[in-house]
Amino acid sequence: MTEATAPTPEVLEAVQRDFSGQLADAGRDVDELQRIRSAFFGPKGRLTLLLKSVGQLPPEARRDAGRLTNEVKRSLEGALMEVLDATAAEAREKELRKGRLDLSLPGRRAIPKGSLHPVTQINNEMVDIFARMGFDVAGGPEVETDWHNFGALNFPDDHPARDMQDTFFVRPPDDRPAGSLVLRTHTSPVQIRAMLAQGAPIRIVAPGRVYRCDSDPTHSPMFHQIEGLWVDEGVSMAHLRGVLTGFINALFGERGVRLRPSFFPFVEPGVEVDLECVFCDGAGCNVCKQTGWMEILGAGMVHPNVLKSCGIDAEKYTGFAFGLGIDRVAMLRWAIDDLAHMFRSDARFLSQIRGI
Ligand code: PHE
Repeated sequence: MTEATAPTPEVLEAVQRDFSGQLADAGRDVDELQRIRSAFFGPKGRLTLLLKSVGQLPPEARRDAGRLTNEVKRSLEGALMEVLDATAAEAREKELRKGRLDLSLPGRRAIPKGSLHPVTQINNEMVDIFARMGFDVAGGPEVETDWHNFGALNFPDDHPARDMQDTFFVRPPDDRPAGSLVLRTHTSPVQIRAMLAQGAPIRIVAPGRVYRCDSDPTHSPMFHQIEGLWVDEGVSMAHLRGVLTGFINALFGERGVRLRPSFFPFVEPGVEVDLECVFCDGAGCNVCKQTGWMEILGAGMVHPNVLKSCGIDAEKYTGFAFGLGIDRVAMLRWAIDDLAHMFRSDARFLSQIRGI
């Protein structure tokens, strides 16, 4: 509908009524509101055309007609904008409500979860087992004196373990003679330090790093051992067997344990302790070389010379000691074939070994 007529008050009133009716019908329908907008205020809109027609009026009528038309235009446009604004605000509100943030949701990009290193896991488990049997935890330096590492442990001066092939020697930073400092080759020197510090009775385990000049799939120049020592009146081989069987059963479940005679300078008698193969349960397999047994630790009754080196009365006290490789046990636990995996820090390997 076009207004052929000039913008008289009657015409403007009719336009106003029409506009109000359409606006009420449109409700919150944005498309409809936009249509109304162009129908009334667009380039060909009714009010636009009415304003234009003011120019055609006789000069004396133009002023009033122009003012009135403009007033109407402004008021209608204002009303329309109000509805459009309210509609937009409502839509935004609805959108926000729909997408309300749940702050308890976990993040999208999963941050990889770390875990304790296999050696740490096994170490903690072993220390827990011995703690339940009343063992305290002791420690000592990794750079050790020849005396603590060998001499006090009853190694003769010409013992092959002192040889360059096994031992890393450390150049002394002071005036001590060359060869008097080593990287400890085992955790046994902690026995000496603990007995010197504490005397008898004593019941300790000592986990730590040890070093030997050796490197192949089952040997690494740095590896981990845990040492055990129990000295008291009346401690016997039976206690050794009882404690170590209890330890092995706690770590690997109920399985056969056997002691074989062996030699270490700091124990007498010395034994090696085997457990029934954890892969074939004693039937014989490649891992145990068909024997059904795997060697797990060295042990023995503390040599009287060692007690004497530490000022302990060897007539009154007896004791047993043992030592085992932590990395070795971790390899058994997770059937790992190359010891080097333990020290490469490859997250792809470590992430496969989670919790015990
Ligand atoms: N120190 C020995 C080794 O490293 C293990 C051991 C410890 C043996 C205590 C007997 C007693 O092989």
